[in-house]
Amino acid sequence: MSDENRHVVLRGRPDPAVRADLFETVDAEMPRIADGQMLIRVIWLSLEPAMRGWIADAPNYSQPVPIGAPMTGFTVGEVVESRHPRYPAGTIVQGRQGWRRFAVSDGSDIDRVVDPALAPISTALHVLGMNGATAYVGLVDVCRVKAGDTVAVTTAAGAVGSVVGQIAKALGARAVGVTGGPEKRRICLEEFGFDAAIDYKAAEDIGPGLDAATPDGIDCFFDNVGGAQFDAVLDRINVGARIAICGTIGMPSFPLPVGPRPNRQLLVKRARMEGFLILDHYDRFAEIVERLSGWYRDGHLKYREDVTVGLDTAPDALVALLAGRNTGKALVRVGDDP
Ligand SMILES: NC(=O)c1ccc[n+]([C@@H]2O[C@H](COP(=O)([O-])OP(=O)(O)OC[C@H]3O[C@@H](n4cnc5c(N)ncnc54)[C@H](OP(=O)(O)O)[C@@H]3O)[C@@H](O)[C@H]2O)c1
Repeated sequence: MSDENRHVVLRGRPDPAVRADLFETVDAEMPRIADGQMLIRVIWLSLEPAMRGWIADAPNYSQPVPIGAPMTGFTVGEVVESRHPRYPAGTIVQGRQGWRRFAVSDGSDIDRVVDPALAPISTALHVLGMNGATAYVGLVDVCRVKAGDTVAVTTAAGAVGSVVGQIAKALGARAVGVTGGPEKRRICLEEFGFDAAIDYKAAEDIGPGLDAATPDGIDCFFDNVGGAQFDAVLDRINVGARIAICGTIGMPSFPLPVGPRPNRQLLVKRARMEGFLILDHYDRFAEIVERLSGWYRDGHLKYREDVTVGLDTAPDALVALLAGRNTGKALVRVGDDP
């Protein structure tokens, strides 16, 4: 891949659909570094469903990406030139360099140093990174999963959902996934070791499938979707159930839809429902990644990647992710591994 710099900048806002032409690939100057800075060559770019919210001009947990600015995003890259005391040339870093081929950093947008000996470096963006940590916080801290529990998770074949199912199994719980399509259902069962998986596209109502898959009800519910899938699982929770609200990819962000209200189920089942953002748990990242790495080394954590090649493929790949067409963690290969 070439050594010229490029950025992908934001040109418009979703209305509410995210289209590839909201972005434009532009040539950019090759940046020069000053004392205390380093030059990073981006190798991997992570795509997130949350990007729909990051570029929308609607209330969210962060300020919208400005029009004309490079799109923000989590990256893995190589330090190729350094005048920074902590990051010598050759260091592999996971940071927030965004949709660029090269970026200057003073270290403030670096999340951690990646150990290439542990696993392929792209895993620092998913199973051994943000997605894995999200699964961990939601299932262990919010749902307080324990051995013998039945765990239900939506987007079960995806980057977060697949780790939720595998952590549940590693901790002695039963894992039941909800996912879209026969191939994703097969992946849940055969590659990620779920005890049961339901293809929500195969039936108008996933209720009967859930009944068959959860004869003892549901103790922990890790929801990534909202809408009808959420409603169906909520109808089957046990007394004392714990529900982690992690994402709402199946719901429009604006205007918010109206549906069944959860009040009765939460009251009658004395259940607890709690939303969480992984951004609030960055201080625990090292500890959580250490635990995930242990499971990975012991063979408890498998992963799948859905890779497109070249920075300019990012807009189309994001549109595909938001339409649910990814099978595995959506990644863009921006440069070659060192
Ligand atoms: N709270 C946090 O801090 C946090 C952090 C990271 C991610 N998340 C959330 O976790 C969820 C999963 O993210 P991920 O990165 O792991 O993505 P992913 O699951 O790898 O990919 C997204 C998946 O969403 C599913 N989906 C369900 N309904 C959909 C719909 N109406 N339109 C499009 N896709 C739909 C699709 O899988 P199916 O075909 O199986 O439906 C799609 O493949 C998202 O809701 C995301 O926002 C939250």
